[in-house]
Amino acid sequence: MPSATPEPLLKVDGIIMSFGGIVAVDDLSFSVAPGEILALMGPNGAGKTTTFHVIAGVHSPNAGRIIFDGQEITSLKPDGRCRAGLARTFQITQPFHELTVEENVMVGALAHNRTMAEARVDARRYVEMVGLADRADVLAKGLSTGQRKRLEMARAMATRPKLMLLDEVTGGVDQKSIPGLIALVKRLRDEGLTLVIIEHNMRVINELADRAIFMNRGVAMAEGTPAEIAAHPEVIDLYLGEAMEHG
Ligand SMILES: Nc1ncnc2c1ncn2[C@@H]1O[C@H](COP(=O)(O)OP(=O)(O)O)[C@@H](O)[C@H]1O
Ligand SMILES: [Mg+2]
Repeated sequence: MPSATPEPLLKVDGIIMSFGGIVAVDDLSFSVAPGEILALMGPNGAGKTTTFHVIAGVHSPNAGRIIFDGQEITSLKPDGRCRAGLARTFQITQPFHELTVEENVMVGALAHNRTMAEARVDARRYVEMVGLADRADVLAKGLSTGQRKRLEMARAMATRPKLMLLDEVTGGVDQKSIPGLIALVKRLRDEGLTLVIIEHNMRVINELADRAIFMNRGVAMAEGTPAEIAAHPEVIDLYLGEAMEHG
């Protein structure tokens, strides 16, 4: 039902995640509205990837709740969260190296198709969507870093998610591949996806994110538009000078 402030699609509520003595995520709360792109940023070790793991169900948190699409999913396993409409890509891409691009995407598509032939047609659509049509029959191990990021997105899209978690899509990718990856993320949003992205590149954040959260040592230190975050004194101190130097 339409309303002035829509229910968030994702709500992270008071998450604490520790490993032995290390508190990787320390009482983190945020919400993501349907159709929004939220960026998580912050220095290495800030707890960004751990936050994704907790949302995706890889780790169960010491405290806090994850609410997705009106349902509490804190105790669901990763596959249950996937069926609920949550998908993710990995900071270190993990394709099946000995399968082709199209076969990799079919693995995701099989959840929604009864026959291999149907899954193949479906997979082809996502391979095209991410711009890998001419690489469909190549083994995944033969892809460049940027192409692997695209494959990850196609595999995730094939599970027909409502929300996708993208971990460092532009990380380790050469500069000239970045505009194409930005355009692809915009395309996913235009397909109706809600996105949470972990991103270091401020240019990418400015172009993509409606809102950003800056984390340090597991804590959300600042939240706002990319412009507000970029002007935040602690953010500048900790991060931005360095990030700007590296482009
Ligand atoms: N599985 C794990 N076991 C032990 N410590 C971990 C594990 N995963 C992450 N950490 C620690 O948690 C902190 C946050 O890591 P991470 O979430 O990967 O940070 P980011 O993605 O922001 O760089 C770091 O200190 C890291 O060493
Ligand atoms: Mg990380």
